[in-house]
Amino acid sequence: MNKVEIGIIGGTGGIGKWFADFFTRTDHTVLVSGRTGGISVPELVTSCRIVIVAVPIAATLDVIRRAGPLLPEDALLMDLTSLKEEPVKAMLAATRAEVIGCHPLFGPDVPSPAGQNIVLCPARGNRWLGFLKGIFDENGARVRVTTPAEHDRMMALIQGLTHLDTILMGLTLRDSGVESSELDAFSTPIFRTKQAIAAKVFGPRPGLYAALLAENPNMPALLEIFKRNLALVEDLIQRGDAAGIEALLKKP
Ligand SMILES: NC(=O)c1ccc[n+]([C@@H]2O[C@H](COP(=O)([O-])OP(=O)(O)OC[C@H]3O[C@@H](n4cnc5c(N)ncnc54)[C@H](OP(=O)(O)O)[C@@H]3O)[C@@H](O)[C@H]2O)c1
Repeated sequence: MNKVEIGIIGGTGGIGKWFADFFTRTDHTVLVSGRTGGISVPELVTSCRIVIVAVPIAATLDVIRRAGPLLPEDALLMDLTSLKEEPVKAMLAATRAEVIGCHPLFGPDVPSPAGQNIVLCPARGNRWLGFLKGIFDENGARVRVTTPAEHDRMMALIQGLTHLDTILMGLTLRDSGVESSELDAFSTPIFRTKQAIAAKVFGPRPGLYAALLAENPNMPALLEIFKRNLALVEDLIQRGDAAGIEALLKKP
């Protein structure tokens, strides 16, 4: 396809900047807007055929509502939010343009999309899906086209459960009364890997992880399963029943 003007709101940092660099490398014209840099949202929206919302989750719906009405019918409004049901619903309500929800399942630290998963949730129109899927496929990404509901159900398992586990580990370590400097001399490679993940979650951007847990409607049901299994394992530990734990691990 010929050069397309692509505007990224939130393209001055994080995953939005990663996409700005990617689309620039693939010969498209990219404009970016940020909170503190880049051009204004109205200027960006009126100059671009594809507008991508890549701001933190807490600001996403507001940005969609501001940008959506400015797009014409043959443009595309897309977001990169880590949850899909709410933003896709908001995009459909805010614009008459085509709508696709997108979730790159990687962070801005990966050098290229090769081998990475990307989920696309087409919600209105069919002009732009082929273009996006084509560009991601050509660059080696593994694209899954699905619904926002299916995406969010899977994200409860993939991101929700992972971060829940990390948060509980971090809170337990914090409450244990043992200083992390004391742990160093006793740590194993697996512990250090988990500690590094916990440091990221407890790091400078806790809002992302908080939203992934609190705003995914599938989390409460998953928590019930989690609590059931915790109670099961707790009972076996209290009784010192190693064989019972082993049997649980072997169960198909
Ligand atoms: N980071 C990831 O690994 C990742 C992966 C997949 C999907 N996502 C999703 O991508 C979206 C952006 O996440 P991120 O981690 O890239 O965020 P981020 O690094 O915190 O911010 C990215 C951009 O948003 C702008 N921004 C920050 N606060 C804003 C506000 N209140 N209003 C408007 N713009 C604002 C920033 O501008 P300034 O620099 O000027 O503040 C920057 O351009 C989220 O929905 C997240 O769920 C993130």
